[in-house]
Amino acid sequence: MIFRILALGDVAGPNAAARITRELFDIRRRNEIDFVVCNGENSAATNGIDVKTANELIKYGVDCITTGNHTFKRREIREYLDETKNIVRPGNFPPEVAGMGYTILPEKGLRVLVMNVLGLVYLEPLSCPFRTVDKMLKAAAGKYDISILDIHAEATSEKIAMSHYFDGRIDIIFGTHTHVQTADERIMPNGTAYITDLGMCGPDDSVLGIKKENIIEKLMMHLPVKFDFSDNPVTLHGAVFDYDTEKKKVVKVERFEN
Ligand SMILES: [Fe+2]
Repeated sequence: MIFRILALGDVAGPNAAARITRELFDIRRRNEIDFVVCNGENSAATNGIDVKTANELIKYGVDCITTGNHTFKRREIREYLDETKNIVRPGNFPPEVAGMGYTILPEKGLRVLVMNVLGLVYLEPLSCPFRTVDKMLKAAAGKYDISILDIHAEATSEKIAMSHYFDGRIDIIFGTHTHVQTADERIMPNGTAYITDLGMCGPDDSVLGIKKENIIEKLMMHLPVKFDFSDNPVTLHGAVFDYDTEKKKVVKVERFEN
């Protein structure tokens, strides 16, 4: 059996979240998708993720939401992270912080491990992402059938280095955070399916989801500027991974755009 996983990149703003909730069931049916993971850390109206949007994404077809450096922008998400198994935050935050870095979700008789980690280059100085993922794999050993890792990171070098370090030990590794899809999807030498960045679910005609004028003003004037999400039409970017349950590995990875 082929177990097909759709991974969607950073959901940039409420319009992007609305498009997913409106169309995901149809996308799942047309593409025979069994499991959907998406990075939802920017899905709320003013950045971050809120409980209402997270609940709606899950209700309308997202199985697991991963997050990143904006996870805790809204206080309300803390309790929610402790209550639900369908959302994870980077595992390299201090252990006292709400939520978990990984979750195991059952789907079609398979146990899907989803892990989330934050890169350190140009981001917060959290715990080492390599060692954090090693620890999560150890903690989940024997409890899952398919493994997925979202590396939310700025630097392509950090994501690629991690893909080599975990090649053959994790089935699917993808990067998020840059909002720009990379064209390097592949099956690595030891069997891990990998793409450096899924890209964004958001308006292409913008600067990474934000109104062009805001960012141009910020970069030209070097003064504080309020960033608003662009209202331009939303494109969904991501990747589709075909996991062969007999071979116990991903046999195909394709970039996704809709
Ligand atoms: Fe981010």
